[in-house]
Amino acid sequence: MTKQVFPGLEGVAIAESSISFVDGQKSRLEYRGIGIDELGEHSHFEEVCLLLLNGSLPGQKELDEFRAKLVDARALKGGVIDLIKCLPKEGHPMDALQAAVAAVGMFYPGRHGMTPAEQRDSCVRLIAKIPTILAAFQRMRQGDDPIPPGDDLSHAANFMYMLTGEVPDEFTERTLDVALVLHADHTMNASTFAGRVVGSTLADPYCVVSSALGALSGPLHGGANEEVLKLLQAIGTIENVRPTIERMIANKEKIMGFGHRVYKTMDPRAVILKQRAAQLAQRSGNPLFPLAVEVEKVVIEHYGAKGIWPNVDFYSGLVYSEMGIPPDCFTPVFAIARVAGWLAHWLEQLDGNRIYRPTQVYTGPHEQPYVPIEQRR
Ligand SMILES: CC(C)(COP(=O)(O)OP(=O)(O)OC[C@H]1O[C@@H](n2cnc3c(N)ncnc32)[C@H](O)[C@@H]1OP(=O)(O)O)[C@@H](O)C(=O)NCCC(=O)NCCS
Repeated sequence: MTKQVFPGLEGVAIAESSISFVDGQKSRLEYRGIGIDELGEHSHFEEVCLLLLNGSLPGQKELDEFRAKLVDARALKGGVIDLIKCLPKEGHPMDALQAAVAAVGMFYPGRHGMTPAEQRDSCVRLIAKIPTILAAFQRMRQGDDPIPPGDDLSHAANFMYMLTGEVPDEFTERTLDVALVLHADHTMNASTFAGRVVGSTLADPYCVVSSALGALSGPLHGGANEEVLKLLQAIGTIENVRPTIERMIANKEKIMGFGHRVYKTMDPRAVILKQRAAQLAQRSGNPLFPLAVEVEKVVIEHYGAKGIWPNVDFYSGLVYSEMGIPPDCFTPVFAIARVAGWLAHWLEQLDGNRIYRPTQVYTGPHEQPYVPIEQRR
């Protein structure tokens, strides 16, 4: 029987999952059945972590305990800080994050065969420490000392505090919090699949998350938001938008922040982030926001009928840059949120696990002779 290849695994279900759901035609994303529009309005990141990990919204006591555990786990061991200090300042923060997360696992026992309690502790540790690692790398590469985490700030506010040394205002804190909620999970995307593959080998969660980070770093996945900002800066003026975009379209160049395997209309996360970006731009007068709106208009004019619309990355970069987050930290900020989804998928994978071992269609030769080196051409 001839085997069929499914490029990009399009349409291939690789697991049953009850964590999140996307309807790409109706522009709907749900976590455990709850729409992200509702979660973005009423919930916050810490609560969403428990929703994803446990399957339902927590009670007050459970939420308070989880928050306290996160706060306790925020600080990094001296060895991890030393390691981050040794990384090249010119290196990309995503690579620093991936290296440091893999290293964090070496500081904790129970690599393989964790008890359920140890699994939960690792989840708390990874969610709590990723913002600290990112903020420490960012500060040390600019020659500043890392700022120890605060213990009376939310996850979002504490990250901004460790990054900038200032507690953010309420609007900035809430905007980052909403962005974290929106990025926390997204069904079987490339990084989640990468994490599940590694998890299926019973590798520890630090390896699972570091592999997922590697997958997220690529420009076709999480790296697109950084590229969007570069494009907007290169365009520079409203008058330049149409000629630049039409030239890109004529040259069949991909326009970053547009298109999606699942969404064939506006990504529901982009709808919410666009509103936030508009509010931030109203406060700051950021000239890139009207440019982005114009880019969106021209791209939809040409590609909307083909199902190519703004995705989550189109407005997230604008939102983060307004908060003073450096462009190469945009994707790591995505990871601050997505680690919750990766870990929920890791736990789900372990429940009834079977190692991933797909097949291939071999297209090479057979029964070739071994040619001694001196006779090779
Ligand atoms: C997200 C993405 C990787 C999905 O990939 P995919 O499902 O494999 O879709 P494809 O890359 O095969 O694209 C299908 C068609 O749409 C076109 N297309 C998709 N995204 C496009 C974009 N951003 N700009 C221009 N054309 C695009 C492709 O050129 C292709 O056209 P063709 O059928 O004429 O060859 C893809 O849309 C993309 O590269 N987007 C830009 C990067 C980005 O924003 N990533 C963040 C995702 S959240």
